[in-house]
Amino acid sequence: MIATSLRCLVTGAGRGIGRGIAHDLISAGHQVVLTARTESELLESAAGAENAYVITADVTTNATEIVRKATELLGGLDVLVLNAGEGISSKFEKTSDELWNSQIALNLTAPFQMMRAALPAMKAQEFGRIVVVASSAGKIGAPYIAAYTAAKHGVLGLVRSVAAENPDCGVTVNAVCPGYVDTPMTQRSVANVVARTGASEESVIAALVAHEPNRRLLTVQEVSNAVLRLINGNSNGTAVDLPERESNA
Ligand SMILES: NC(=O)c1ccc[n+]([C@@H]2O[C@H](COP(=O)([O-])OP(=O)(O)OC[C@H]3O[C@@H](n4cnc5c(N)ncnc54)[C@H](OP(=O)(O)O)[C@@H]3O)[C@@H](O)[C@H]2O)c1
Repeated sequence: MIATSLRCLVTGAGRGIGRGIAHDLISAGHQVVLTARTESELLESAAGAENAYVITADVTTNATEIVRKATELLGGLDVLVLNAGEGISSKFEKTSDELWNSQIALNLTAPFQMMRAALPAMKAQEFGRIVVVASSAGKIGAPYIAAYTAAKHGVLGLVRSVAAENPDCGVTVNAVCPGYVDTPMTQRSVANVVARTGASEESVIAALVAHEPNRRLLTVQEVSNAVLRLINGNSNGTAVDLPERESNA
């Protein structure tokens, strides 16, 4: 049976999907550490809740230290939501080593380091829930986003491998794979295309969602619901597609 008050760490909790997940965990009465680089956004996300704590840090340089500090603040760690991420687009031939390395560092290496830091104590207490916010870009290729796509494919491999290596120990490791979500990250991408092409915002969004099953942006709430289902359930090694089907692929 899952405890009524879980000790949770949510990365990228300053805005967008991470803010929504942190908000839902706080509202459910769990103890939540929110982390990102922008303190003002974290404080807005925490909204003065007594069961919320803030760590301002960069996951690409402080991954292990963030897990250590959160564990200390909470007196242990039950839930790790690895959501911090960003997709920077670039034509493949123009993708610099710097862009490649930064996309891998943020979307793949930081989740690896945080999982590695959190897992031993979760196994020792025979309970843990690790959920990665990956992307549909972790399962299919798309133009102008090779580094992000490679990192998100990699993080799904990481999830499946860590889950396979740690069966039946009370710890589950899963991912959610959303299509386009209505968040500041998507708003930034749309604004870039509008600035570059002069197209209207509506037409850019319509083009983004043209191949999505429901032809609209997902809401943060839909993604958060899927993450909370994984935290409350027992699935292990799954990569949940949003919208639509759940798959074990
Ligand atoms: N939006 C979509 O359509 C979509 C679709 C599929 C998957 N996703 C994934 O969902 C996750 C959240 O995306 P979002 O749309 O909510 O993005 P967002 O609105 O830009 O929020 C991203 C969060 O991550 C934090 N972050 C970024 N770089 C960081 C770093 N180096 N260290 C610590 N924190 C960092 C940001 O805060 P600071 O900048 O203050 O650090 C912010 O709180 C990402 O992993 C993204 O790949 C998004």
